[in-house]
Amino acid sequence: MRGLPLVLFTVALAACGGAKEGASDAAPAAETPAAAPAAAASFDPSSITAAELALGDSVYHGLIGATSCQACHGADGTQATVAPNLTDAEWLHSDGSFEGIYKTIETGVMTPKQYSSIMPPFGGAPLDPAKHRAVAAYVYRLGHKQ
Ligand code: HEC
Repeated sequence: MRGLPLVLFTVALAACGGAKEGASDAAPAAETPAAAPAAAASFDPSSITAAELALGDSVYHGLIGATSCQACHGADGTQATVAPNLTDAEWLHSDGSFEGIYKTIETGVMTPKQYSSIMPPFGGAPLDPAKHRAVAAYVYRLGHKQ
């Protein structure tokens, strides 16, 4: 039975680790109920992450997906020849909020207010929800520096 003390020691360690794990399990468990409201409040600009902005940048510039927003809005969003400037404070189709921009991208603009072109939904090709949100976040940030 020379191994017994070692076994006991291991059990004691495991118990210790177990207690710690229990504590760290509590954190994600506590976050889970908050995840539903967080999804509902997902248009809170403070929820925009750097990774999302990077994804939105790629979508906007047509690097991924079949849509290129820059074709009409310009590489920096300021081209106002066929489509409106997205970097100023003037919003034709929403209040310019993150959610408003998200919705305009989804519906597109069938009845333009200032330009002769229309904007097809999602700029022409469907975007999955993550890319849709990311490009909306990117455009939101073009016009709202935090
Ligand atoms: C075919 C050209 C075209 C493409 C591509 C395009 N747009 Fe547009 N966009 C427009 C036009 C035209 C309008 C509305 C002009 C008007 O009302 O006179 C518009 C309006 C908008 C608005 C509303 C601006 C406001 O003042 O309320 C947003 C936001 C927007 N576009 C974002 C995007 C994003 C993001 C993409 C890429 C996913 C995109 N657009 C792709 C032409 C385009």
